[in-house]
Amino acid sequence: MKIYNVLKILLVLMISSANSQPPKFDYGLSAYKKGNCMGCHKWHGDGGPGYGGAALSLRETGLDREQLTKIIACGRPGTNMPFFDKKAYIDDRCFGMKFSDFEGDDKNRPLVAKSYLNKRQIEAVVNFIINDLQGQKVSKDYCLKFFGKPTKSCDGL
Ligand code: HEC
Repeated sequence: MKIYNVLKILLVLMISSANSQPPKFDYGLSAYKKGNCMGCHKWHGDGGPGYGGAALSLRETGLDREQLTKIIACGRPGTNMPFFDKKAYIDDRCFGMKFSDFEGDDKNRPLVAKSYLNKRQIEAVVNFIINDLQGQKVSKDYCLKFFGKPTKSCDGL
């Protein structure tokens, strides 16, 4: 009857793990962190003043999915919004422009991100902006999701 007991334990384990809620992993949030978007747009996504100019609010942005994807991949030359696509400005995928087109034009030269995002990560961070930020006020739920635990930033939300 030993094997029966082993099966019983396995069954109990399976049921209890199905009932416990694992922390929800959001690939888009992890891409937001990998790209250090919060370095400029802040953890809450509302942006604000920082070194080199104000990052726009991702909660108030009016850009659609296609435009969001483009600006994250290509950055916005002439501003402090960096590009996250490793191949940007190497071939002509971004506005038909290459680095050589910016020679002698340091003011508009595209800014390289500190760490690149691949296509899937860019897609995920766009989903994250659309689902968790755009058109929404910062909430306690969002704060807990971002930090993964209660922190001082979440007090008073
Ligand atoms: C080094 C600072 C910096 C980092 C890092 C950064 N941004 Fe930006 N971002 C900016 C600035 C500055 C602007 C405003 C550009 C302008 O003035 O048009 C901007 C603009 C944007 C916009 C356009 C908003 C609009 O309504 O036009 C989007 C979308 C955006 N950033 C997303 C991101 C995402 C996603 C990440 C991370 C993957 C990121 N940014 C990382 C500085 C940054």
